[in-house]
Amino acid sequence: MRSVIDVPDLTLGELDRLMDTAEDIIARPDQYSELCHGKKLATLFFEPSTRTRLSFEAAMYELGGHVLSVTGAGTSSAAKGESVADTAKTVSCYADIIAMRHPKEGAALVAANNASVPVINAGDGGHCHPTQTLADLLTIRREKGRLDHLTVGLCGDLKFGRTVHSLITAMSRYEGLQFVLISPDELKIPGYVEKDCLKKKDIPYTQTTSLEQVIGDLDILYMTRVQRERFFNEEDYLRLKDSYILTPEKMKKGRPDLCVMHPLPRVNEISVAVDDDPRACYFKQVLNGKYMRMALILMLLKEAGRI
Ligand code: CP
Repeated sequence: MRSVIDVPDLTLGELDRLMDTAEDIIARPDQYSELCHGKKLATLFFEPSTRTRLSFEAAMYELGGHVLSVTGAGTSSAAKGESVADTAKTVSCYADIIAMRHPKEGAALVAANNASVPVINAGDGGHCHPTQTLADLLTIRREKGRLDHLTVGLCGDLKFGRTVHSLITAMSRYEGLQFVLISPDELKIPGYVEKDCLKKKDIPYTQTTSLEQVIGDLDILYMTRVQRERFFNEEDYLRLKDSYILTPEKMKKGRPDLCVMHPLPRVNEISVAVDDDPRACYFKQVLNGKYMRMALILMLLKEAGRI
């Protein structure tokens, strides 16, 4: 059974086709409104979410399907000690496809190995978040007209920010990319992303602590929240949480065609005064996420022979 747990589960060709499908959904939504008639998506969210859960649910409704939802570990039998494996086997009896978010790295893979329906990882701990990457890729392709030959700055919590790990993994497959990694020393990207992705593929990257010094070099600036929930020590979080705040003043140093992204939710990383800047693309990302999740649900249900 085909599931999507991490970005490499999708080939470059499949990413292109998903983006093409999303574009077609945007252009001709009526053609898609009954394709999942009678089918059910289960959203199992054992961690907080606004965008990912609601966009999966909106996606399934806009495809004509139905949604079953678990929100919070406390409202399901996980609170009684049920394993992820047993939960996946159980939910497979009710739903045609599962989207799952879990605080533990690897939980979605365990679910996929035990489910008899496709499982989509909607974020597993500090590991990865492949469907956010689908939203990010469509946003970049729509805003810049390409996914290659770009200078991409990633700023903030690069250690715990799972969207960063997935985006680097995805974009490192395109030609002519270079990354500028902007973070405090304590929040640099994990060694496995640096070694297995950037170094292994010989992708140019620089690391810096200064956003101001590099913002003028960037095509994309991907801001991230410092992930309070992954810190062991509240003091460290309080010390690091406001390391980077993007303001209209700093935006003056950015290129006229800079694309500013953020997976959201934001706390302080982007001043609300930046929202009116035409280079602010983060709410477009939110909408693009719904279309890409529609495209992914369709792809997986077709492959599973369920539509
Ligand atoms: N980007 C993202 O994953 O947002 P939520 O946590 O609100 O789902």
